[in-house]
This record gives sequence, C-alpha cells and structure tokens, in this order.
Amino acid sequence: MLRMENVTYVYEDNTVALKGVNIDLRKGKKIGIVGSNGSGKSTMFMLFLGLLKPTTGRVVFNKKELKYDKVTLSELRKKAGIVFQDPDKQIFFSSVFDDVAFALRNLKFDEKEIKERVTAAMEKTGITELQNKPVHFLSYGQKKNVSIAGAVAMNHQMIFFDEPTAGLDYTSKENVKNILEGLAGKEEKTIVVSSHDMNFIYEVCDYIYVLNKGHVLSEGKKETIFLDKEILDKANLEEPFLVKVHKYLGKPLYEDEKELFKQ
Ligand SMILES: Nc1ncnc2c1ncn2[C@@H]1O[C@H](COP(=O)(O)OP(=O)(O)OP(=O)(O)O)[C@@H](O)[C@H]1O
Ligand SMILES: [Mg+2]
Repeated sequence: MLRMENVTYVYEDNTVALKGVNIDLRKGKKIGIVGSNGSGKSTMFMLFLGLLKPTTGRVVFNKKELKYDKVTLSELRKKAGIVFQDPDKQIFFSSVFDDVAFALRNLKFDEKEIKERVTAAMEKTGITELQNKPVHFLSYGQKKNVSIAGAVAMNHQMIFFDEPTAGLDYTSKENVKNILEGLAGKEEKTIVVSSHDMNFIYEVCDYIYVLNKGHVLSEGKKETIFLDKEILDKANLEEPFLVKVHKYLGKPLYEDEKELFKQ
C-alpha cells in the first residue's frame, strides 16, 4: 500500500535527515525500522503519513504518487495511523476516554460504536482505570498507553508505531508486544515499528530496514539482518539477546524468550 522511492528530506535548517531512501512496506506484515538516535526514523514516519513532503523523490500510496491535497490525505489517513514517539504530540483532550475517542468523534462515528471501540482499546492497553482522569496528570508511560489506545480504536489497516516502548516499564512493554502481535496476527494489519530496542524488534517484527545517518544501510528478513554483526555494528545497534544466545552459546535461534526457557 505504501512505499517511498529515492526520498531525500532536508529540514529548514539544512539538516539532511534522509538521503535517497527506498522503503517498500509491502515486504512484510511487521516491519521494523531500526537505527540509532537521529538516523531518520521519525522523519520517515512523518513522510509516510504525508505530514512532511519529500524534498526530492516520492511517496507512493496505492500505486500512485502521493498528492498532498485534502482528499488524498484523508484517504491515506483512513488507511494508516501513527502513534507518535512523543505522546504529548497526539494528546488533545481532557479525559482519557475523550482522548481515545477523539479521532472517532471527528469522523462522526455514532456514540454507541465509539463507546464500544474505546472501551475495548482501553482494556487492551490497560488504561481502563484511568478513563476519567485528566490526561495532563498522567505519567509519561500512561500517556504513551493512551496514545496507543487511540490508534488501536481507529482500526487502521496500517499502523506506524514510533518507539512504542520508550519509557514503558516491563509489564507495559510486554503488553505493547501483545497488542502489536494481536494487530498483526488475528486482526491482519500491517504494523511498522521503529525502535532502538533490538530485543523488542527481534521478537515482534519479520522484515527489517536498518537506517544509518539517513541512509538505508541494509534490509531483509529479521534472521538475516540480526545475524549480521557487521551491519549492526555499523549502525551502532546491539545484537538481540536471543541472537547472542544462539551465536555464543550455540543454542538454536529462538523466536522469543519463552521458547528459550521452555527447553
Ligand atoms: N524539525 C527539525 N528541524 C531540523 N532538524 C531536525 C528536525 N527534526 C529532526 N531533525 C534532524 O533530523 C535528523 C533525523 O531526526 P529523526 O527525529 O528523524 O531521527 P530518529 O531516528 O527518529 O531519532 P531518535 O531515535 O532519537 O528518535 C536528526 O539529525 C535531527 O536532528
Ligand atoms: Mg525518533
């Protein structure tokens, strides 16, 4: 549904955030975008959502070059949603419930459906108890869960998660992992996840793009990428724990920690 061809993006102060980037989001159902700080992940997400326009190159949406008129952008936003890295960027409303319901109300869903969807999304993200609380009193991690709930309630075909686990504790992180697996699994959505948490990406994603200083350094199936120490070193990324267990302790390459400890 979405790809970018030869995209370069230069910010107003002349920072070149992306250089000649080609990404095809049809290559996986759970795409991981990994790269160290400042490598261009968030910029890429904003380009895919049409929030930024490429300086050169193009974004292709449903086989056509993305246009930035209202109609095309609203078409795009019906299909694709984003959970921003910074939850304050997407929190608009006073109470948690109203915030999660915000976009649905904007799209004029009826209140009954809104209530159902918001209730389910709050349950999934573990924030039901917070539903009447003013959002500005929440902790960082709680806000993060509220913004994830907002995206879950929208039921988009494709969801971008920019650093979904940053600042989350162990339980919330596991919970986000389950949510993402549920979305990509039985709900058959495509998820695009950026992170520098290699363990998280290793367990969640199937196809990986490695970004380094605005370039795509490498792309491929997760096994190929994560077993390639040279690429990870070049991009200043850590080997996932399960890859270390495989390489240095001679164990099979397990999909997740549960598999390892079942042995
Ligand atoms: N509004 C802006 N104006 C100027 N430069 C910017 C702006 N936003 C980002 N940049 C620069 O663009 C580059 C890419 O930033 P981006 O936020 O896309 O990286 P990132 O991979 O998401 O990093 P992180 O892992 O820290 O979230 C960085 O050098 C950053 O300083
Ligand atoms: Mg970022």
